[in-house]
Amino acid sequence: MRLGVLTGGGDCPGLNAVIRAIVRKGVDHHGHAIVGFRDGWRGPLESAYEELTVESTRGILPRGGTILGSSRTNPLKRPDGVETLRRNLEGVHLDGLIAIGGEDTLGAASALYEEGLPVLGVPKTIDNDLGGTDATFGFDTAVHVATEAIDRLHTTAESHNRILIVEVMGRHAGWIALHSGLAGGADVILIPERPFDVEEVCRLLERRHARGRYFSIVVVAEGAVPREGTMEVLAAGQTDDFGHARLGGIGQRLEREIEDRTGFEARTTVLGHVQRGGTPTAFDRVLATRLGLAAVDAATELRWGTMPALRGTRIELVPLAEAVAELRTVPPEDYEAAEVLFG
Ligand code: F6P
Repeated sequence: MRLGVLTGGGDCPGLNAVIRAIVRKGVDHHGHAIVGFRDGWRGPLESAYEELTVESTRGILPRGGTILGSSRTNPLKRPDGVETLRRNLEGVHLDGLIAIGGEDTLGAASALYEEGLPVLGVPKTIDNDLGGTDATFGFDTAVHVATEAIDRLHTTAESHNRILIVEVMGRHAGWIALHSGLAGGADVILIPERPFDVEEVCRLLERRHARGRYFSIVVVAEGAVPREGTMEVLAAGQTDDFGHARLGGIGQRLEREIEDRTGFEARTTVLGHVQRGGTPTAFDRVLATRLGLAAVDAATELRWGTMPALRGTRIELVPLAEAVAELRTVPPEDYEAAEVLFG
């Protein structure tokens, strides 16, 4: 068999581990040839690819990023996208394509499968918000990075009696904020799923102050929003090919509000892409490898339109359509369990 592989959307620690597993098992065990497309869906749209071999993928397991490059190109946005892909996959004599990505990349993969293309997916995102799977690789690494940052901010917050706000990634889901906030002992955690009341945030900080703790840590997901009418709302910025606005700025806005309302000195740290870069944790390397192995087996069995997923401790194949039907957001009860620790 001749199989293609691509990595789309925001990069994520563990992508190279998936690629390596696909190539190793695909070539050595199944006798396949593997083609790596450049920069997400741009690769098959423009026939930009390279042959991947066991030799060319040596040493990449612990490396962050993706050796194939990534982009947010949406093939369905091109008027002739589906036909171009069909033609180009045939041109490279491919039997099928493995798309490694999050909601957007896999949403496109699912739609292309519906159009009759032999495509299957592998779930990835640091945001941990894909449906159909209990977890995605990259998340554990992002939580580790954010937790380490919170630990470091704690000591300087205490020295200066400051409110330190940590803005972490999480466009629609607050998994990184919730888990790093819990691990780092944050005093307030704000997530997109639960619009916040800035008055209540200030009340918690003031209560802590009254108890003799003159510093606090607030962890806020980039997609967190104030409850309607409680704080000025940001104008939407630039959008990408999938229509997502570039986020960022909620930390700074909170900083000003908290200072104005409480008189406490507040400062913001935006962690940004540092959460996505660098070497994956052991957990993410293992999960990514297991998903890569399962994906190449699924392709060998022509299980197009599916995605290997973590279900409990097992890897199982689920329909791609199930994975992209709905985002997996933080359940209210998980947030409420953390809330009792605030302030
Ligand atoms: O989807 C993953 C993610 O990390 C989001 O949390 C974030 O909003 C987005 O990517 C930012 O990615 P980029 O800056 O690459 O567009």
